[in-house]
Amino acid sequence: MRITMFSSKPYDRLFFAPAAAPNEILYLEPHLTEKTVDLAAGSEVVCCFVNDVLNAPVLNRLKELGVQLVAMRCAGYNNVDLAAAKQLGLPVCRVPEYSPYAVAEHSVGIILALNRNIHRAHNRIRENDYSLNGLMGFDLHGKTVGVIGAGKIGRAFINIMLGFGCKVLVHDVNADPALVGRVQYATLEELWPVCDIISLHCPLTPATHHLINAEAIEKMKRGVMLINTSRGGLVDTPAVIRGLKSGQVGYLGLDVYEEEADLFFEDLSNQVVQDDVFARLTTFPNVIVTGHQAFFTREALAKIAEVTLANINAFAAGSAADMTLVE
Ligand code: NAI
Repeated sequence: MRITMFSSKPYDRLFFAPAAAPNEILYLEPHLTEKTVDLAAGSEVVCCFVNDVLNAPVLNRLKELGVQLVAMRCAGYNNVDLAAAKQLGLPVCRVPEYSPYAVAEHSVGIILALNRNIHRAHNRIRENDYSLNGLMGFDLHGKTVGVIGAGKIGRAFINIMLGFGCKVLVHDVNADPALVGRVQYATLEELWPVCDIISLHCPLTPATHHLINAEAIEKMKRGVMLINTSRGGLVDTPAVIRGLKSGQVGYLGLDVYEEEADLFFEDLSNQVVQDDVFARLTTFPNVIVTGHQAFFTREALAKIAEVTLANINAFAAGSAADMTLVE
């Protein structure tokens, strides 16, 4: 199959190229958008990532160009208009699980860094400043952690936090029998006021859009730590900024941001940031932002390439049953 890979980076090529045959991959840097869609001409497959735009006009044009399969090389698919894809008869596959540990461990990394001010301590030492004022943290042991979405990543995260001796409250639309007795299930109304840390691991859907908004923040414990490594749209960022300014939100850790498509994955160090909301976020001492890197481990990239190519090969062989299709 001829594959056009949008939003590709050198590390994608590193993992896809050795296993690509008999497929041919055209590695392109631009995101897939209405402006770039014609670059897929001549390909049977487009391989896309989190910030590619797969709305109805783009999918329509892909279909006109003869594209037969959308192969997402990520877990989330909130950027795909599934109804439009279905109507066009354009199958969409994804990588449902590549390394839940990668994302869970990164979330914990942000928690530890925020709590113990590791980012600030690192800078101080480099300035020959060994003072501890302002670096005080808290024991994670005995704290209450709220987990919203206890799927593959949420469960891996829960296991680590239980290891720290935290009490874990879970809110999920589906209860997992394996977690019963280890965590406490809760409604959001029960979860907001009692958690010291709240970590988001649910998908972005209309039901979860801006789940963390002004009303929810108001109900949280003062000084709460919010962690979002799932999707930017789960958080109403201006509302969280107001919470940070008032002290209602004590710490914020983000690996994703609602408007990240214009920022993340690129070196913009010679440019002026145009997004004032994002720029404000980076001024707080108690905020850590990473640029959608939670997935970025060797193991995860190897699995992403393996599953994406297996999906494409299964499609070429006509065996839909062997594909991880988005239904
Ligand atoms: P999963 O499908 O295994 O788990 C999602 C969980 O959320 C399920 O248990 C589901 O029942 C629950 N859920 C669905 N709607 C909900 C709602 N309204 N309220 C509460 N819970 C709800 O997905 P997985 O693999 O754990 O991934 C979770 C999310 O993490 C993905 O949707 C994706 O957005 C994000 N992600 C972020 C990455 C990063 O690099 N930052 C990498 C991979 C995934």
